[in-house]
Amino acid sequence: MKISSLELNNFRNYTNTKTKFEDGVNFIVGANAQGKTNLLESIYIMSVGKSPKNSKDKQIIKFGADKAKVSCDFKTIAGNKNIQIYFDKSDKKAIKINNLNILKLTELVGILSVVYFSPDELKLIKEVPEDRRSFLDVSISQFDKPYLYNLLKYNRILKMRNQILKNFDSVESKKEQLKLFTPQLIDTAEKIIEKRLIFIENLKNIAKDIHKTITLTENLEISYSYNKKENLSIKQDLEKEFEKIIDKELELGYTCIGPHRDDIIFKVNDLDCKHYASQGQQRTVALVVKLSLMEVIKNEIGEYPILLLDDVLSELDENRQSRLLDLCVKYQTLISCTAIPTLDKPYNQIKVENGKVI
Ligand SMILES: Nc1ncnc2c1ncn2[C@@H]1O[C@H](COP(=O)(O)OP(=O)(O)OP(=O)(O)O)[C@@H](O)[C@H]1O
Ligand SMILES: [Mg+2]
Repeated sequence: MKISSLELNNFRNYTNTKTKFEDGVNFIVGANAQGKTNLLESIYIMSVGKSPKNSKDKQIIKFGADKAKVSCDFKTIAGNKNIQIYFDKSDKKAIKINNLNILKLTELVGILSVVYFSPDELKLIKEVPEDRRSFLDVSISQFDKPYLYNLLKYNRILKMRNQILKNFDSVESKKEQLKLFTPQLIDTAEKIIEKRLIFIENLKNIAKDIHKTITLTENLEISYSYNKKENLSIKQDLEKEFEKIIDKELELGYTCIGPHRDDIIFKVNDLDCKHYASQGQQRTVALVVKLSLMEVIKNEIGEYPILLLDDVLSELDENRQSRLLDLCVKYQTLISCTAIPTLDKPYNQIKVENGKVI
């Protein structure tokens, strides 16, 4: 997949900007606070429908303006496409794909495929399980729409089940009501867990190799952590566990097991990265995971997504920069930086200054 052009109107610090991109490596270069991250953010929003910083739509409209628009043209194996998003301070955002309005955000997911990495992505390793589940969900949804719909269904059932667990009915009445929701929850949970297991299985083998190439000596293991007992199917397991845990759930007032509680474990040389890896090791693992995701998505959709790298070069030594850029030339990669490293490879350069591409 390749973005050929991008247009920003009143988006963050951009008033009115148009720019083109080339295949291979594109450096987005400029001093601090000029708009490099904002430019990458706009592309991410057109892929996933929300900001990687979790900003509200209102926050991305230029100070003093009431509306904003982002738009891009891109090439895919299925033909040329265009996405436009209109933001309005007093209304919901409107999205057009190839000039046709879409009604639900879920229709946008998977159209423009991107993999995004910024120093913030360290949260994938360091922070709470929710960040890792969000990585799973956003990644799998990019190539598997049924997964996304199933996830939304799961969240709806979970919400209803939790309402029952914490309402003021008698325990007997609650148990009766749960008889309807628990099997539905287990059915959707099973589908989610199955897909996450396949995804992690594919990701971990690729990640192990890329990680070895970059670190030369370290061994990376990735696994999905969930409620699993020997010799039972996922469904049987969940059924058994839900039976066991019901009194505790009634006491606590929420659903204690299921994919909304699962996690990913990253281990380097047998040690859990979250607790033992150095900052540099954690950063390397997070970057390796994103590079591996490029391969996993390519295997699923038949072409590479666009790689967006925000501020990664400043964090790597010269050797690692060079090895990373060697890997990036085969994708369309957009890399923000304050200065372009010395390179013997061809690249395109986009200079950003005070909210303008110059
Ligand atoms: N809604 C907005 N309207 C106008 N300006 C904004 C808005 N949101 C953010 N900005 C400004 O955009 C500027 C550029 O931000 P950005 O994060 O893109 O910088 P950058 O070029 O990536 O810098 P760095 O090298 O420090 O990462 C910031 O100074 C910020 O104050
Ligand atoms: Mg930045």
